[in-house]
Amino acid sequence: MKPILLALPGTGALASGLAQHLSCEVGSLEIHRFPDGESCPRLPPGLARRDVVLLASLDHPDRKLVGLYLTACVARELGARSIGLVAPYLPYMRQDAVFVPGQGITARHVAAMLSGCVDWLVTVDPHLHRFRSLSDLYPIPSLVVPAAPEIARWIRAKVAHPLLVGPDQESEQWVAQVASEVGCGYTILDKVRSGDQQVTVSVPGTLALDGCTPVLIDDIASTGRTMRAAVLKLKAAGSLAPVCIAVHALFCGDAFAELGTAGADCVVSCNSVEHVSNLIDLSAPLAAAVRRMLP
Ligand code: R5P
Repeated sequence: MKPILLALPGTGALASGLAQHLSCEVGSLEIHRFPDGESCPRLPPGLARRDVVLLASLDHPDRKLVGLYLTACVARELGARSIGLVAPYLPYMRQDAVFVPGQGITARHVAAMLSGCVDWLVTVDPHLHRFRSLSDLYPIPSLVVPAAPEIARWIRAKVAHPLLVGPDQESEQWVAQVASEVGCGYTILDKVRSGDQQVTVSVPGTLALDGCTPVLIDDIASTGRTMRAAVLKLKAAGSLAPVCIAVHALFCGDAFAELGTAGADCVVSCNSVEHVSNLIDLSAPLAAAVRRMLP
């Protein structure tokens, strides 16, 4: 029997793209929210012995994780043969250390919660920094889909003479991959973050722009302060208006608008999180990964 895809709220166009590439059935999933805030998922009939694929966009995760957890538990209760999770944006990955005494490594706890309710996980470019591999956190089988090939395809089609720029050391893992696919150069800036909204970026050495269009690439744009600081720094160094690309477009508050005000030429993202900037579609590589995970 074909697998059945259940899309949690907020997955937007990605759900239909994924279903089309997988040529699977799409089941109706309703998550009722009671006036007191509790969630009550209602799953479609006929899940017994089916392979269920849950698609969840986990930006603003605290509002969504309980609904997802309960949906997976109910699918199990209804007799699903296997339950997989496609979470194109995997939250809490930046909480990978005790930054201040009294905190915990919450990345571990979210990983334990999700690993306890699904059988496998597919995600896109998780923020791996102090943990080197997803399997260091998630004991269930998992696959990471790199966004680099799709980002590179977009750059090749849209930017004539790109120079890729990573705003901080952590971004080098993604920027280097995209640069090698595009066949262009890249440079990495230095970043110091002193608070949620306080970011300074500096250029190590000299910046050889050579008339190229800077293309800033980061895995996550949240407050947008990292990208904004990098845009301002590049503009101050005399660059053309930078193109900004985020894999996961969280864009809290006025972050998106602020990038335009800072002088970005355009802001583009992958559709791992539904946002007006989504111009890079990941449904095909996600479907390929799901096919590898299904029993
Ligand atoms: C952290 O190192 C990440 O790669 C991003 O640079 C960071 O999450 C961006 O956050 P914000 O948009 O809040 O500056």
